[in-house]
Amino acid sequence: MDYRQLGYSGLKVSELSLGTGTFGGGTEFFRAWGATDVNEAKRLIDISLEAGINLFDTADVYSRGLSEEILGKAIEGKRQNLLISTKTTFRFGDGPNGVGSSRYHIVRAVEASLRRLDTDYIDIYHMHGFDQLTPVEETLEALDTLVRSGKVRYIACSNFSGWHLVKALSISERYGWARYVAHQVYYSLIGRDYELELMPLALDQKVGALVWSPLGWGRLTGKIRRGHPLPEQSRLHKTADVGPPVPDEYVYKVVDALDAVAKETGKSVPQIALNWLLCRPTVSSVILGARNEDQLRQNLAAAGWKLTPQQVAKLDAASDFTPTYPYWHQRNFPERIPLHVPGPHPL
Ligand SMILES: NC(=O)c1ccc[n+]([C@@H]2O[C@H](COP(=O)([O-])OP(=O)(O)OC[C@H]3O[C@@H](n4cnc5c(N)ncnc54)[C@H](OP(=O)(O)O)[C@@H]3O)[C@@H](O)[C@H]2O)c1
Repeated sequence: MDYRQLGYSGLKVSELSLGTGTFGGGTEFFRAWGATDVNEAKRLIDISLEAGINLFDTADVYSRGLSEEILGKAIEGKRQNLLISTKTTFRFGDGPNGVGSSRYHIVRAVEASLRRLDTDYIDIYHMHGFDQLTPVEETLEALDTLVRSGKVRYIACSNFSGWHLVKALSISERYGWARYVAHQVYYSLIGRDYELELMPLALDQKVGALVWSPLGWGRLTGKIRRGHPLPEQSRLHKTADVGPPVPDEYVYKVVDALDAVAKETGKSVPQIALNWLLCRPTVSSVILGARNEDQLRQNLAAAGWKLTPQQVAKLDAASDFTPTYPYWHQRNFPERIPLHVPGPHPL
């Protein structure tokens, strides 16, 4: 396992990390993802640590707090050997202040996450989405205070637009406050919008990408291909409408290319899809989703080898897409604004 710098910070994170959206199954939505209990979580975490993973990702809203609770119990005695990232912003409590990135909500949310995780500090604390109603200064000042108090080590954001992130970075700089060192983003072979605005921004501002749903919300697993019914046990049956929108035909075309590369390499479809992400600029860590031990072991084997440039080019071509404006226009000037930034991870 390689370790990468988390954006413009001194923190090293494993290139693969483990997501805990499958822990708990405490709500109907998350039950479709999985219902990993404490004992199974311990096993998955041990396997991950053994493979060199040092980062475990959760959020207050995952199974309404149960994912954090299970993670907290499963890492008992191991806290010093690993990093925890969690999040707030989406609705958790009742009432008008049970949601958002106000000082009020963030401070309460951190205290509650620390309790559920049974820890004194959070290594990476994310704003799960952008709150357009709260002044950005209020959010960042509250986060800076949490960093200074030692309850939070690094701050990050998730699902921000380019202007949200640039505004936040410039306000942090203006006041000398902690800045977002990472952006947790959706990025996959069937969802490459990240490359249009957020990747060039991440390169320019040195913001590391923590990639969520690297298999396209569970679609690039080898279980989905043209003419095949969705297998009985897949979270897609119940959650496909909530996740990233993607036309079936585009998925099939990308899966065809993955199948071709699978034949050449002897690797599986998810391993190739994950390895492609490891080759992309700005990616600090790819957050694995795994319902069980078999899936986890298979996905862990996505690291430690490299697709050839020809194989990457084949996958790039199959997943190519028409950018929205102004990106299709900028594509006409590739020597001025590289849209698909080539080369290895530069952060
Ligand atoms: N910041 C955000 O807004 C956000 C949003 C979503 C997720 N996340 C984070 O990202 C993590 C990963 O997201 P994700 O679970 O959506 O990732 P994903 O990699 O796109 O999908 C994982 C799912 O694909 C299937 N799968 C995975 N490996 C497989 C294999 N080897 N063989 C067959 N099937 C396989 C499993 O679902 P089935 O068994 O049901 O088919 C598994 O739950 C989450 O746990 C969470 O920490 C963050």
